[in-house]
Amino acid sequence: MIGIFDSGIGGTTVFKEILKLTPNQNFIYYSDSKHNPYGDLANEEIYKNVKEVVDYLISKGSLIIVIACNTASMVCVKKLREEYPNVTFIATEPAYKMAHDYAFDKETLVMATKSTIQSEKFLNLYHKYDNNITYLYSCSGLAELIEDGNNEAINNYLISHLTKYKGVTNVVLGCTHYPLIKKNISKVLGKVNFFDGSCGISKELKRKLIDKGLLDKGQGKIYFIDSNNDKQKIKRFSEILGKDYLILDASKNEDI
Ligand code: DGL
Repeated sequence: MIGIFDSGIGGTTVFKEILKLTPNQNFIYYSDSKHNPYGDLANEEIYKNVKEVVDYLISKGSLIIVIACNTASMVCVKKLREEYPNVTFIATEPAYKMAHDYAFDKETLVMATKSTIQSEKFLNLYHKYDNNITYLYSCSGLAELIEDGNNEAINNYLISHLTKYKGVTNVVLGCTHYPLIKKNISKVLGKVNFFDGSCGISKELKRKLIDKGLLDKGQGKIYFIDSNNDKQKIKRFSEILGKDYLILDASKNEDI
């Protein structure tokens, strides 16, 4: 059973890519909407929430866990690997290197949560590939609006926060929620090249499964749990994923 989690339904943008590459595994997707958004919390608070999710996933048999959240990856992965040496954690990161490899001489906007932009792990990546025409923008509150799915509020946010970046060529979507609003972003910034980490993390998972001899060893089962048992999240997960899955009740400790 492969565990995968995010602070809400944003990680579905990663999960969809994973399902394209490794459909014959069993997955449990954990949407931690009880603690959303992670991106504006203190690092200790993020780790505490993530640990709760990880303990749940391990209790359901996950020894491979995909952190489909840039914030949790940037802030927690090092400590998680130390604390859970028997678990394989597959982490994501803002696709800044990908933008650099594609068009390093072009103006680049990195959109991510405040915690990601301020994290040591992200800053190391940024300084390694900095092209001196990159803008880092902490999109506080944006993931929350995407969770709520209010298109008008999302458009208003983007107009007031992103208009000043009109003209950039590359846009790094450094939060798993943002690929869900590519069209809205394009309306404000015009034609841009988008980069996100979903392909990278999916390939990494496939490599790990091959190494461990676990590729194609599942039945393609998908479980979904939302920490708030939020019906709206369950509905959106289904709309985005477009696949059959079983829902687990967060108020019970169900066997799977
Ligand atoms: N989707 C998450 C990320 O990739 C976090 C969003 C949030 O909860 O702030 O960073």
